[in-house]
Amino acid sequence: MGEPDRATAPGTAHRRDPTSRASPASWRVRPARSDEGVRLTQLAIRSKAVWGYDAEFMARCRTLLEVTPEYIANYPVFVGEDGRGIGGFCSLRPRGSDIELDLMFVEPARIGEGLGAVLFRRAVAEARTMRYATMLVESDPGAEAFYLRMGARRIGDVASNVLRGRFLPLLAIDLQPGHTPV
Ligand SMILES: CC(C)(COP(=O)(O)OP(=O)(O)OC[C@H]1O[C@@H](n2cnc3c(N)ncnc32)[C@H](O)[C@@H]1OP(=O)(O)O)[C@@H](O)C(=O)NCCC(=O)NCCS
Repeated sequence: MGEPDRATAPGTAHRRDPTSRASPASWRVRPARSDEGVRLTQLAIRSKAVWGYDAEFMARCRTLLEVTPEYIANYPVFVGEDGRGIGGFCSLRPRGSDIELDLMFVEPARIGEGLGAVLFRRAVAEARTMRYATMLVESDPGAEAFYLRMGARRIGDVASNVLRGRFLPLLAIDLQPGHTPV
C-alpha cells in the first residue's frame, strides 16, 4: 500500500465560505468527561478519514485513535462544543522532556469553522501552565499547513508506526515567553 488516495485534495479541506465561519467566541472548550471516550474515538475516526485513507489504513489507525476512560483520566483532553454539540477535541501527552499535542480532531462537517485554532490555543495555554518549553506534533501530512499557520515550525520527519515507509512531519511550537503562536 502506498501513500493513500485522498478523497479531498490536499490543502482544500479547510476552505469554507467565510460567511459560514462561526466566531471563535461561540466555541466553548472544557475538559472531556470520563464517559465520553467512545464518542470522541468515533469522532477521531470520522475526522481522520477526511484525508481519504483506505479501509486498511483506517483499521491500522484504530488503536492510536482510541480515547479510553484511562486516557481521559491520565492526560488533558479538551472538548470544543457549541449549540450544535461537540465539534472536536484535542489532547496533550508528555513526550520525554516535551509535551505532545497527541490528538487533534474536528468533526468533518465543522472543519473550517475556526474550532481547530480554538483548540490549538487551549492546548498551548495548558502546556504553558504545565511549564513545558516546547509542544511537539506528529502531524498528518494533510494537517501540516494548519499547524504552520498556527505558528509551528517543522523540525524533521518521524516514521509512522501505522505504515512502514510512511513518514510524518514533526513540528514544534515554542512555548517560551516572547514566542506567541497564533
Ligand atoms: C487540521 C484540523 C484540526 C484544522 O481544524 P479547523 O477547525 O478546520 O481549523 P480552523 O478553521 O481553526 O483553521 C485555522 C487556520 O488554519 C487554516 N487551515 C486549517 N486547515 C488547513 C489546511 N489543511 N491547510 C491550510 N490551512 C489550513 C485555516 O484556513 C485558518 O487560517 P486563517 O486563520 O488564516 O483563516 C482539521 O482540519 C481536522 O480535524 N482535520 C482532519 C483530522 C486531522 O488531520 N487532524 C490532525 C491530526 S495531526
